[in-house]
Amino acid sequence: MKTRITEMLGIEHPIIQGGMHFVGFAELAAAVSNAGGLGIITGLTQGTPEKLAAEIARCRTMTDKPFGVNITFLPTLTPPDYPGLFQAIIDGGVKVVETAGNNPQKWMPMLKDAGIKVIHKCTAVRHALKAQSIGCDAVSVDGFECGGHPGEDDIPNFILLPRAADELTIPFVASGGMADARSLVAAVAMGADGMNMGTRFIATQEAPVHENVKQAIVAASELDTRLVMRPLRNTERVMNNAAVERLLEKEKALGADLKFEDIIEEVAGVYPKIMLNGDMEVGAWSCGMVAGLVYDVPTVKELIDRIMSEADGIIHKRLNGLY
Ligand SMILES: Cc1cc2nc3c(=O)[nH]c(=O)nc-3n(C[C@H](O)[C@H](O)[C@H](O)COP(=O)(O)O)c2cc1C
Repeated sequence: MKTRITEMLGIEHPIIQGGMHFVGFAELAAAVSNAGGLGIITGLTQGTPEKLAAEIARCRTMTDKPFGVNITFLPTLTPPDYPGLFQAIIDGGVKVVETAGNNPQKWMPMLKDAGIKVIHKCTAVRHALKAQSIGCDAVSVDGFECGGHPGEDDIPNFILLPRAADELTIPFVASGGMADARSLVAAVAMGADGMNMGTRFIATQEAPVHENVKQAIVAASELDTRLVMRPLRNTERVMNNAAVERLLEKEKALGADLKFEDIIEEVAGVYPKIMLNGDMEVGAWSCGMVAGLVYDVPTVKELIDRIMSEADGIIHKRLNGLY
């Protein structure tokens, strides 16, 4: 399938793996790129420019295909070394950056001078238009269904994607709730140039996370995610578990008085314990409603090949057959 995104990024299939904290290591990024999609290393998981440079170099030993790096702008008082992280990306010869969390305007001249394509991930049409106006090459439009941070507007992709198509001139990919060939064909039908997946890629052989995480996603239904931190206007869609129920109790009890410190135990520093140790009840971890559509743990190549061949079947048999 050839779209503006495959052409822009030099990839075979219009499928991107979104940055994921403590999931987006070189193993997964390389597997997605080797299978013809675009794999993405999660910059902040590495933390320092030195470690990110080493992870980029490690990824290069596993693939000669293009891959990207995600840089997430966090609402924190002590930010990571963003200039150093971007320099590591440039020095590492990476040609695609996925930004998220906030407007990347400040970094655009540096990235454009280095010939890097910037895909900004956002949850609202107005943010997508802003990204377009500051020179982003593409956007990833993240609907309310998505795992992670869906924003505060709560617009699902059946509305958000065609709205984005009506407004944008730059290419965009559909993100949130994407799992299979049906997602891809529907996304393209609504005007997108491809799709970005998070949760679905965690349940693959190559995702370097504990087996418990993969099995939790396979076992979950579409009813098993919860929204947390809405009172802090930092809403996150997470897999339900004991820690999340505790967190939601605190939100209910404290109401508008809730502060980040009240829930720090359930959200801070929990990712390594969950993703690497498989300690599934220890805290809140991002997961999309799409877990309900994840039934197996294939290799990344099996997953992507299946999506592309079934997409062909949907378009050429099912849809063509309607006429
Ligand atoms: C476990 C997990 C961690 C994530 N971490 C990040 C992150 O650090 N930065 C980011 O921009 N997006 C992050 N995301 C969001 C994904 O990149 C992607 O936008 C989202 O998962 C798409 O929705 P889906 O899960 O329905 O496919 C994360 C998602 C998951 C499931």
